[in-house]
Amino acid sequence: MVDSPWPRLDDASLREAYAAFLAARPEFEATCVIDEVRAREFGRLDALGQIYLDYTGSGLYAASQVRRHSEMLLGHVFGNPHSTNPTSLESSRLVERCRRHVLEFFRADQDEYAVVFTANASQALKLVGESYPFEPGDQFLLTFDNHNSVNGIREFDRARGARTHYVPMVPPELRVDEAVLERCLDEATPGRHNLFAYPAQSNFSGVQHPLEWIAKAKARGWDVLLDAAAFVPTNRLDLTRFRPDFVALSFYKMFGYPTGVGALVARKTALAKLHRPWFAGGTIDVASVQADRFVLAAGAAGFEDGTGDFTNIPAVELGLELLESVGVELIHERVRLLTGWLLEELPALRHGNGRPLVRLYGPTSLERRGGTLAMNLYAASGRVIEHDQVERQAGEWGISVRTGCFCNPGAGELALGLTRSEIEHCFTATGSRMTYDDLRRCVDPHEAGAVRVSLGSMSNFADVFAFREYARHLLEAA
Ligand SMILES: Cc1ncc(COP(=O)(O)O)c(C=O)c1O
Repeated sequence: MVDSPWPRLDDASLREAYAAFLAARPEFEATCVIDEVRAREFGRLDALGQIYLDYTGSGLYAASQVRRHSEMLLGHVFGNPHSTNPTSLESSRLVERCRRHVLEFFRADQDEYAVVFTANASQALKLVGESYPFEPGDQFLLTFDNHNSVNGIREFDRARGARTHYVPMVPPELRVDEAVLERCLDEATPGRHNLFAYPAQSNFSGVQHPLEWIAKAKARGWDVLLDAAAFVPTNRLDLTRFRPDFVALSFYKMFGYPTGVGALVARKTALAKLHRPWFAGGTIDVASVQADRFVLAAGAAGFEDGTGDFTNIPAVELGLELLESVGVELIHERVRLLTGWLLEELPALRHGNGRPLVRLYGPTSLERRGGTLAMNLYAASGRVIEHDQVERQAGEWGISVRTGCFCNPGAGELALGLTRSEIEHCFTATGSRMTYDDLRRCVDPHEAGAVRVSLGSMSNFADVFAFREYARHLLEAA
């Protein structure tokens, strides 16, 4: 527990700044029902003096999610699914109901899409990577901007002789050059397996890559894997409008609880194309030792190894209900307005000698971006203030931000201007066991990471104001 950051913030200046914010963005008033939800459901944030700015790391859970889940657990007897006894049937009923609810939430046609419950987005991505029928002559195309759990799929395609190709992004906006992407998409090999993967929203820069790419890529022969983990907590994903083959996500990023449950939402035809590398309890209709044969269960069941998390999966519905009751569109609007304020305020912070305190990576306007901001802070001398120092100091203010490269090395390398030869040199000089600290030392005085501030469903003006105030106290007089 943090003592209290508020003595460092002057309440009067917060009130004044809020009044100015509202005057400039009167539409924010319409989102103020979220303040009531926050007071009712997330009172612990303010009671414990926590200023939470790491929503891309994890969403936060409401008190009622936990209460309703414990009532659900205490009011039922849940047995292992996969059987027909009453307690097993009860578990299966709630898990299946949740599956339907997830499809409804994403407006997916139940005949077209299936939900595979996984441990998290990474496991959903791995299921696709390990089961996609890569062969020599096939291709895996992905953007530089990707989480490592997507980058890692290249190891599967390389092991099977397929080709990996990265589409670069262009600094400073860190978006893909559409002309380059068009050329890459044109290179799908007819009659072969072509997989294209990208994030709907960057977990590094907040860039929202166009969902229109999905139809374009599909029309040219690509299967599309959309990493929606950082997008769905504050944006509507409508699978009747945009129809990727595979969507990966983690539910804790959307509403904090339960952890340990994610999903691969996949077109049934795309699932049928995958070849699982093994079978397990729960994934087969029948298997024989003597006959050395097995028959994989059809649909989602064939991808859910062993016993699923049958006590926690039903709690996903409680999170979906919370998001539905607040409204994803309203959350989106609130995050947009608060992000806009930070985008204006942070670059305006200047040391006495005129040098900027903050350098933002990625889009500096609100166009096609979400509420994730990557940046570094600099002393008046121009030297970077180490990101781990920022994380530690901000923590003393009760502020949670994340620092490093956020498991997104492609976006990080481009944002920070690290070249391939510099990084290759570090790997060669340090040896195969290079750690992140080795990399930092090797590229010094170059930045090797960044500070990430991310907004989410319960962010309020006081949160962003607190971060601005923390940053402001780093300013040096002339
Ligand atoms: C865009 C994106 N993809 C994938 C992941 C992996 O999610 P998880 O760690 O829940 O598997 C993350 C996590 O931060 C993410 O931001």
